[in-house]
Amino acid sequence: MLRDKRILLVIGGGIAAYKALDLIRRLKERGAAVRVILTSAAQQFVTPIAVGALAGERAFTDLFDPHSEFDVGHIRLARDTDLVVVAPATADLLAKMAGGHANDLASTVLLATDKPVLVAPAMNPLMWAHPATRRNLALLAADGVALVGPNAGDMAESGEQGVGRMAEPLEIVAAAEARLAAPTTAAAGPLKGRRVIVTSGPTHEPIDPVRYVANRSSGKQGHAIARAAAAAGAEVVLVTGPVHLPDPPDLRTVKVETAREMLAAVEAALPADIAVFAAAVADWRVAEAGRHKLKKDGGAPPSLQFVENPDILRTVATRAQGRPALVVGFAAETDEVIAHAKAKLGRKGCDWIVANDVSPEGGTMGGDDNRVHIITAEGVESWPPQPKDAVARALVARMATALGQAPQ
Ligand code: C5P
Repeated sequence: MLRDKRILLVIGGGIAAYKALDLIRRLKERGAAVRVILTSAAQQFVTPIAVGALAGERAFTDLFDPHSEFDVGHIRLARDTDLVVVAPATADLLAKMAGGHANDLASTVLLATDKPVLVAPAMNPLMWAHPATRRNLALLAADGVALVGPNAGDMAESGEQGVGRMAEPLEIVAAAEARLAAPTTAAAGPLKGRRVIVTSGPTHEPIDPVRYVANRSSGKQGHAIARAAAAAGAEVVLVTGPVHLPDPPDLRTVKVETAREMLAAVEAALPADIAVFAAAVADWRVAEAGRHKLKKDGGAPPSLQFVENPDILRTVATRAQGRPALVVGFAAETDEVIAHAKAKLGRKGCDWIVANDVSPEGGTMGGDDNRVHIITAEGVESWPPQPKDAVARALVARMATALGQAPQ
């Protein structure tokens, strides 16, 4: 897919810039020709020499460098490429792109290019959640700029956690391949112009640095809904716990581990027209996860104290402001499926509950088929057993109808 493709990599100034060196290697391994621009801040983290050695071509750094201007020139840098990748995309670089600034080589090339652009943001979680960054991302999305990540997890600053870690090099490679494969105009479809958030997979709640509490969710149903919504033309953010599934193309995947990270990622992805909560979120987490591995010391086994996790669905469905027009929850039940799901509709404050029977004999968890009941204020619809992909397509079609088909 990347063989003989020309990639222009813009490296911004953040600690994640060190991962951009590995990204160059991964792109080259796949046969891409990589040209690199370093912002002046990026040069505080990685050097033009290291970048040039890996790319096999000198790095570009200055707008007013007579040598580059008569040789390649900023306009040729912007045009002689198949894809522009910005990694790490700092808050400042995103703001410049959104505002159309052109006061250094990177921003000028980003303004001058007519090629697809993929950005991999990396910043502190508070900067990522700031309304200014949200506004800039909305503008960039409207301009057709694709996003990969950021993921949730530990930040470089010690003790800081949240959404803001740059996607891993291989995730950026996969997103670059998807961006090159995608048609340049957004797919038309009943959800065109709509924003959809989907949660998927389990959460992992740490006991200590090596152990965690989890569940058997595979993420298949949630991922299928995210894919179906993207295929229907929506701009989709998929917030997923740890799963063994590839990142779907044509949408943004945010990877998280814990319920609290999932809530932060969902809130950072708002506003949305539709939010679908298909993740099997752990109800409880260990109150004080050990900072060191718990040891057998010959005494009594450790007793774990649990505390309740935030209810992501309820938090979003009961928001006073900025509640998505359609909020859909899932109910995984092993008995009295419909009665329990009906009670859940009221308790969670959502518009629909998709109830599925996950008793072990049904094979739903981890399996490819699902039998669901759609519970709304109007009543219950029971659908026949069908593949999870078919459930996803039918749900998305029903959501588009519920929202009214006119683009916003
Ligand atoms: O209460 P219960 O876990 O059965 O509710 C299931 C629904 O609530 C699912 O849609 C699930 O994604 C969502 N949920 C959540 N946050 C939690 C627990 C469940 O979003 N902490």
